Amino acid sequence: MCGIVGYVGRRPGKPIILDGLKRLEYRGYDSAGLALLEPDGINVVRAVGNLDALFLAAGEDSSDACVALGHTRWATHGRPTEENAHPHSDCSGRITIVLNGIVENYKELRERLVAKGHTFGSETDAEVVAHLIEEHADEGLTTAVRAALGELEGHYSFVAMSSDEPDRLVGTRLETPLVVGAGEHEMFFASAIPAFLCHTRRVVVLEDGDVVTLRADGAEYTDVAGNAIVREETEFPGDDDAAEKAGYETFMLKEIHEQPAALRDTLAGRLREDGTVDLSEVEGLGDEFLRRLRRIFIVACGTSFHAGLIVSYAIEQLARVPVQIDVASEFRYRRPVFDPDTLVIGITQSGETADTLAAMRLAREAGSPVLALTNIMGSQATRDADFVLFTRAGLEIGVAATKTHTAQVAALLLLALRLAWARGAMSEAELTALGRELRQVPELAEQLLARPSAIEQIAQRYHDERFFLYLGRGMGYAVCLEGALKLKEISYIPTEAYAAGEMKHGPIALLNSESPVVVVADDGPVFPKLVSNIEEVRARGADVIAVATDDNEVIGELSKDVLWVPKTDHHLAPILTVIPLQLLAYHIAGIKGLNVDQPRNLAKTVTVE
Ligand code: F6R
Repeated sequence: MCGIVGYVGRRPGKPIILDGLKRLEYRGYDSAGLALLEPDGINVVRAVGNLDALFLAAGEDSSDACVALGHTRWATHGRPTEENAHPHSDCSGRITIVLNGIVENYKELRERLVAKGHTFGSETDAEVVAHLIEEHADEGLTTAVRAALGELEGHYSFVAMSSDEPDRLVGTRLETPLVVGAGEHEMFFASAIPAFLCHTRRVVVLEDGDVVTLRADGAEYTDVAGNAIVREETEFPGDDDAAEKAGYETFMLKEIHEQPAALRDTLAGRLREDGTVDLSEVEGLGDEFLRRLRRIFIVACGTSFHAGLIVSYAIEQLARVPVQIDVASEFRYRRPVFDPDTLVIGITQSGETADTLAAMRLAREAGSPVLALTNIMGSQATRDADFVLFTRAGLEIGVAATKTHTAQVAALLLLALRLAWARGAMSEAELTALGRELRQVPELAEQLLARPSAIEQIAQRYHDERFFLYLGRGMGYAVCLEGALKLKEISYIPTEAYAAGEMKHGPIALLNSESPVVVVADDGPVFPKLVSNIEEVRARGADVIAVATDDNEVIGELSKDVLWVPKTDHHLAPILTVIPLQLLAYHIAGIKGLNVDQPRNLAKTVTVE
């Protein structure tokens, strides 16, 4: 939530900051701002709405300012207004900051600062930081930032500039990301690496409490007490083109089509040709632990929760370990019972979701080993876990998660196979057959995406409906939850996903000839039961849109429309069956003329509880 970008160098900073913000816009898009350190002081421009509004407000005028800051906001404290947009300045306008995160004690700090004569121009928690720095301005910007840090509670990263020291930016972080990019005679701060990837690949991932002073020719790293520290620079391996649409109309559509590659990369080197699994990331847990494991807790939010739910079925069925899955915001407050023989898996593509991180920390403090599944190198989740398994989906910019979801399912299936192996829950022949089948899935996803499909016509027919019901069983039910979430978050059509067997206990009352019912029918063991549920739907006059595997004649006869997917083992099918549901949601939202990459009220990273 919220994106920060900062530049100190020898080139004009304005276009660099605006371009960086474009690459971070997925983090928040209700308002944005820019600060340019000009010879006559700091020039701040802010605008409400997405970045187009800021581009307009900033105008075409060039600026020679070589020190600049930018921010794209997702409102937490204070409505999305121009006054509340970042950057925020102190009373004198000599100090300006941008902040990502939350200052929890801002009310007391603000009262104290107001009593001392400070005047505030916004309702935000962030503005107190500029005024706290002002209090210590005589000591120099770096010392003043350190002093402010000592007074703040919460989790945040911020970067400050001062017109009294026009050659530098000072940044710090606590449980919220901030990275440094090192170029030739230029340095960058950003919430995420893509912001500066077109300028440099040399990256320093900061640690909590680091206070970093950037000048054009380098960085000085200190801890909270002011002691010099050393931070390692790494070369970032990813592609720069991730932030481009590459000919697709939207990032979401591009990312849907990137799923075969994301799956291939996530499985690469982890699944041998003979179908055996090589998952070095979890080897530290040890075979002994994997054997004696008595329970797995999975904690996650949103789409990541759905990936966890899908694979919870596979882990229980294949490895015979009981799995309890919970949304992180519930889990952390329900006093769960931990023990050392419980493995806790936190799933978070961004690695920043506040509730998931808190749940992981809770488990760790209680003595259960924690494994994080994330897509982002250096993210907070990688610090809050004992073990880290990465998906390799590449940067996902569309707010509605697609390729990170299927990559999560693939990575968790690897874990299920590894567990089954350690526990002797399946024969070697069964395991390697399933492993070999999993190796085929990226290819099947590619075939699926290349097929001509009726999805656009179906979207055309149903885009005006006021409600969609999704029904499935087992893993198919979990896929329905994800399909229903996709449709509601980008098309704003109310949806409900139900376990098909549960339909007659209430939701059947919703059925009539006007509400389409989407059914996910994989070839799992409960398929015959699902057929009865489809009959129940038909008997109430509702249209059935089914997702089914090729050649399933029964479904073909029972459904008005079928979105066919290639055949695979039913444990692996959710990677394929979700794809038509992503596309259905995508096309319905498109026909309604909605911005699928930036649905209202949402942000890609949810760093608040
Ligand atoms: C929906 C979506 C969200 C996220 C959720 C958790 O399309 O993307 O529901 O899945 O906010 O995010 P992460 O995985 O970053 O913890």
